[in-house]
Amino acid sequence: MIHCICNNINTAKVDAAAANGAETAACVQRACGTKFNCGQCRVDIQARLREWRTANPVLEAAE
Ligand code: FES
Repeated sequence: MIHCICNNINTAKVDAAAANGAETAACVQRACGTKFNCGQCRVDIQARLREWRTANPVLEAAE
């Protein structure tokens, strides 16, 4: 699925950015070497980041 039409950012690219620590849509744009053009994708990318974090919870360090 394409999340950002302007920069051709699909789900795989958002997920890869998330796996590398991207926490915001702007971080995803930077990770892809792009920046917002129209900005219409901001909410959609954030939603995908939330989905990714839900599916890939950070394991808490053992104390
Ligand atoms: S759809 Fe992402 S900047 Fe336009």
